[in-house]
Amino acid sequence: MNYFPTYLALGNAFCNRKAELERIIYDLKGNSPILLISPRRYGKTSLALKGFEQIKWPYSHIDLYKALSEEDIERFILNGIGQLLGKLESAPKKLLQLASGFFASLQIKVVLEKAGIQLEFNQNRSSPKDMILKSLEKLHELAKKKKKHVILFFDEFQVVGEMMNNHTIEAAIREAAQKSTHVAYVFSGSNRHLMEQMFHDRKRPFYKLCDQIKLERIQAEEYEKYIQIAAQKTWNKKLSQKALEIIFELTELHSFYVNKLCSLLFQIDNAPTEKEVYSTWHQFVLENKSSVEKELDLLSMNQRRLLIFLATHKQSTELFSKKITQMINLTSSSVQRAIEPLIEKDYVFIDPKKFYRILDPLIKSVLEVV
Ligand SMILES: Nc1ncnc2c1ncn2[C@@H]1O[C@H](COP(=O)(O)OP(=O)(O)OP(=O)(O)O)[C@@H](O)[C@H]1O
Ligand SMILES: [Mg+2]
Repeated sequence: MNYFPTYLALGNAFCNRKAELERIIYDLKGNSPILLISPRRYGKTSLALKGFEQIKWPYSHIDLYKALSEEDIERFILNGIGQLLGKLESAPKKLLQLASGFFASLQIKVVLEKAGIQLEFNQNRSSPKDMILKSLEKLHELAKKKKKHVILFFDEFQVVGEMMNNHTIEAAIREAAQKSTHVAYVFSGSNRHLMEQMFHDRKRPFYKLCDQIKLERIQAEEYEKYIQIAAQKTWNKKLSQKALEIIFELTELHSFYVNKLCSLLFQIDNAPTEKEVYSTWHQFVLENKSSVEKELDLLSMNQRRLLIFLATHKQSTELFSKKITQMINLTSSSVQRAIEPLIEKDYVFIDPKKFYRILDPLIKSVLEVV
């Protein structure tokens, strides 16, 4: 088995997050919409899917990442509802009947294919926001009639906010979410900044709609238990405490990188030594160096300068002090101006000790290498 997926952590590959899961279940049962928020690749999607698996309500995962227009958003959402109908009714004929009835008043034709039902959109239908609102309301009525709870999971939801200036689709979804007792709404997105703009701005429709669940990094003790079980099964032997510590030090407990590094280490024939942990990470950093550098090229010179400083110096809180700004070779106000967008874009975060730190351990390692 793959203990360390670098895609979603499903089934047994999912580690801990017990408090977050409890809160998701509580919110779902309490009919409160949920917003999952964290920097990229911390485990939002995995967490949501785990929660749905536990509560055992039918759900639809509507990933809006590839939606490029209002019509795409409409299509993705309606197709998501179509999939959900497939989970409410598995017999093909009955499903076709159910879906045809459901979509008829929306002027949408339904055909049954191997992969489930497919929707055929009519050119002269109402506007996307009306179609979305109507279909969400209908879904609520249907679920209520069937005495079932269902979940709509809107992933990469920042796309909706990014595309439209007038927020009409956001308003339509909010309206449906507020009225619905049998459709639960869960929102997540990989662009933390855009998501916060949508959900925290009092002028936007989603202001104060959701219970917000913030994901932090998974704790070392939890990973330790999990990794040692995997080690025992793979090599009949535990990893040395020191090797484990180095894994945590290099990946800084960032979910994606813990899995990435471990998936490389677990391909080695014997339990890796400390040296092998370092060399595996180093190799990984070298392989990704040019793509990281390309990404960092998009930042301003001052932002890059600041990142390099943070990567190569043990942090103190006094980032804006004269001593430090002289070391960075920038004025205090330039440091201030450079740090804000870096935090906004999740390149830098402020840790519980109020230290400024690079968020992505790969970026940090690339910048550390001289
Ligand atoms: N609870 C967990 N236990 C172990 N690994 C996890 C856990 N949650 C996430 N991961 C791992 O972390 C990585 C990111 O997970 P996931 O895609 O769920 O995060 P995300 O926050 O939705 O990412 P994105 O911001 O790109 O949408 C994956 O490699 C996944 O396997
Ligand atoms: Mg995700």
